[in-house]
Amino acid sequence: MALKKIDIKELTVNPMTLISDEWLLITAGNQERGYNTMTACWGHMGAIWGQGKGLPTTVIYIRPQRYTKEFIDWEQLYTLSFFPKKYKKALAYLGTHSGRDGDKISEAGLTPVFGTDSTWFEEAKLVLVCRKLYHAPLLEEGFTDRQIVERNYPERDFHEMYIGEIVAAYFDSDKE
Ligand SMILES: Cc1cc2nc3c(=O)[nH]c(=O)nc-3n(C[C@H](O)[C@H](O)[C@H](O)COP(=O)(O)O)c2cc1C
Repeated sequence: MALKKIDIKELTVNPMTLISDEWLLITAGNQERGYNTMTACWGHMGAIWGQGKGLPTTVIYIRPQRYTKEFIDWEQLYTLSFFPKKYKKALAYLGTHSGRDGDKISEAGLTPVFGTDSTWFEEAKLVLVCRKLYHAPLLEEGFTDRQIVERNYPERDFHEMYIGEIVAAYFDSDKE
């Protein structure tokens, strides 16, 4: 089976395990302008803004030095791709190699699928296409638990937060 477009409200997932245990790929760009991807295991899914009901949104966190960040900052759309367990090694590879240094996507054995302004992967079981709504760095003065700063940011390279509206969702119920 292939990925099928679904209504985001039909999706029943546990974001805690899906994001932090199974991981995901954050991808931005397209075939013409170029694209890149990176692994993440931090993020949120929920609702904010909108009229009455909150817009379905995701939050991701990207350190300033990531090559993928250049594409996210340039583009309006980005995708979050979630994979069956057998692709964990590929995700580990994409999370420890930079697209600046070579064609890591081919090395990882994944197949890009190109939308008009976004890119995702054929092997994914779930793809969320997100429209960038808000982007700002985490601020040192905002941390009420200083230990988080000392443990995660000895170089003070604070993650930058991106809130994106989920504008399309694709799911393959046959992939585990
Ligand atoms: C399991 C895992 C989770 C990660 N989560 C994040 C994350 O949430 N944010 C981030 O900036 N980097 C994260 N990284 C690191 C990037 O994926 C990694 O630096 C990657 O090589 C960046 O690639 P790029 O330079 O091609 O963008 C994670 C890496 C792994 C292995």
